[in-house]
Amino acid sequence: MSIERIRPGGALRGSVSVPGDKSISHRSAILGALAEGTTSVRNYSPARDCQSTLSCLRSLGVEVSGTSAGIEIVGTGERGFREPERVLDCGNSGTTFRLMLGALAGMDLFAVLAGDESLSRRPMDRVLLPLSRMGARYDARAGGRLPPVALRGGRLTGISYTTPVASAQVKSAILLAGLRAEGRTEVVEPALSRDHTERMLAAMGAEVEREPCRTVVRPSTLRAARIAVPADPSSAAFFLGAALVVPDSDVVTAGVCLNPTRTGFLSAVERMGGRVSVENARDEAGEPVGDVRARASELRATEIGGAEVPTLIDEIPLLAVLATQARGTTVVRDAAELRVKETDRIAALCRELARMGADVSERPDGLEVRGPSRLRGAEVETYGDHRIAMALSVAALVAEGETIVRGADCAAVSYPSYWEDLARVREGALV
Ligand code: S3P
Repeated sequence: MSIERIRPGGALRGSVSVPGDKSISHRSAILGALAEGTTSVRNYSPARDCQSTLSCLRSLGVEVSGTSAGIEIVGTGERGFREPERVLDCGNSGTTFRLMLGALAGMDLFAVLAGDESLSRRPMDRVLLPLSRMGARYDARAGGRLPPVALRGGRLTGISYTTPVASAQVKSAILLAGLRAEGRTEVVEPALSRDHTERMLAAMGAEVEREPCRTVVRPSTLRAARIAVPADPSSAAFFLGAALVVPDSDVVTAGVCLNPTRTGFLSAVERMGGRVSVENARDEAGEPVGDVRARASELRATEIGGAEVPTLIDEIPLLAVLATQARGTTVVRDAAELRVKETDRIAALCRELARMGADVSERPDGLEVRGPSRLRGAEVETYGDHRIAMALSVAALVAEGETIVRGADCAAVSYPSYWEDLARVREGALV
């Protein structure tokens, strides 16, 4: 297991280019593989999760070639994927698992999907139940709930489905299945989750109708596209968050995706008194993009809950760390989904931040943090969860003494060069 040792001291300064957005990268590869013609994707994420998607697609007979500048995917169009000879290994990636289930459900083939230890504990019934209502057949471990999943795809019929929780993965799986289903497929969600699938489907010529929290898709053949993936706001957040709490810091993250379903973190830290600003706002390939700057700030507590939660779901570990440095009690509610991410993030955060001297308590659906507190360096665990690893690294930057992050290499799940980029921006070097 790899460890990272972090000592406080030194402002973060300069500009960071974080990898391409993980969510958009997954979708560009899967939609490209379904389309007619060759799709080219610039700035495809090097995240381990996004590589899992590419290796699954290759096992399904999809031709993928690439360089560091980008990838090309030869779409399979009407023909669809080839039946895989072996188990599709989704690694740590819930998005790969769930979106692939949706893409495969309408094809006449048998496929088994599996993942690592963490992914094998994550619920798949949330996708399998609606897909089986459309006509797919499956079996899965733990009474049909957990991976591995054996899927028998085939003829599907469109459904109207209301998701019990706002989940872009569930929504996307159903919409992808809808591309090959008879009639219309409708997904209604209780709050708007990230909408990259809907945007990309429309851009690639699918018949999609959208209203807030309601999407309808009709059987469509996608057209290949040229896609430029903006920088991942969920990765940029760690540098922005660190800059807010480390004295004298001033950091810019360039070309970040500013899709409103992803900017909850920026709104929350603004409420907390964080000095963040967007420069160079523009539109690139159907997604709003800009350079985001953050400067060291005095933070105050805030409340996070309701419809805001899906817009910052992956940033809650970091927000909990920032809350330890903010005056007052920060409350996160309506975020029980955190318990079924790569690890139970509520339990992991409370345990590890308490080790560092934070005043935190668990709620069934979130947590409470009383600040500000002086953190102290400690030996902390990541539970193999990339966002926990990176959030704890930010806590370490403001803690007294050395922090040892055990299992630090899991950051590669979303951000392979995270530790190097953090070291460089701490020296004020341009990344
Ligand atoms: C993702 C959606 C979110 C998010 C995950 C990526 C996606 O999960 O937490 O990191 O790309 O669709 P849910 O949709 O399950 O909330």
